[in-house]
Amino acid sequence: MDLKQLAYLRALGIQVWVDRSGRDRAAPETETMKAELCAEEWERLAQAVAECTACPLHQTRTRPVFGVGNRRAAWMLIGEAPGEQEDLKGEPFVGPAGQLLNEMLRALRLKREEVYITNLLKSRPPGNRDPRPEEVAACAPFLMRQIDLVRPQIILAVGRIAAQNLLQTEAPLSRLRGKVHYYKAIPVIVIYHPAYLLRNPAAKRQAWEDLKFAWQVYSARSQQTHG
Ligand code: URA
Repeated sequence: MDLKQLAYLRALGIQVWVDRSGRDRAAPETETMKAELCAEEWERLAQAVAECTACPLHQTRTRPVFGVGNRRAAWMLIGEAPGEQEDLKGEPFVGPAGQLLNEMLRALRLKREEVYITNLLKSRPPGNRDPRPEEVAACAPFLMRQIDLVRPQIILAVGRIAAQNLLQTEAPLSRLRGKVHYYKAIPVIVIYHPAYLLRNPAAKRQAWEDLKFAWQVYSARSQQTHG
């Protein structure tokens, strides 16, 4: 069985044991094979996003905005939807809010390339309006697959809309901040959206508290898993 067939069967959810001995014996995959399968799966997913017509936003966007960064990151950041700059470049958080997000990461001693960044929506809503529930629902399978593939140690939900959709709640941001939530057993910390912080710089102090809290949660979890 070649790699392509294997990847195909896996994509269908069929568990395959590779017999490399010639005998009737189940053998574990090599790390290289796993990495190749994973890379193929990422490519297929990005392609599926590029070809998706499940909601009308594909008609008005310039480029799909899939996600960027380390596909095996410990930290995953999930924002709302691409804005103008992101739509032009095909990359999340590259406009002014993105610059501030990079600084927020730097405060955590994290580089943008070390984390994985994506959004609920992979296409820009016209005029930067809020995502509609049906658009979020149409895009959700892509985000879920990204989370499953990255398998982060911690997720930062960036802003109210990302948090409410990820956590399936209508609670306001003020009630979501400062608590540990979970998405499939992965801790989720809710932080202010950098676009909000640009409009309300006085909230930066609270934003810093949220980041410190996220760091504590991450450190405690790393100690549990590694120590
Ligand atoms: N705001 C978001 O939520 N995501 C982006 O990618 C850019 C701005």
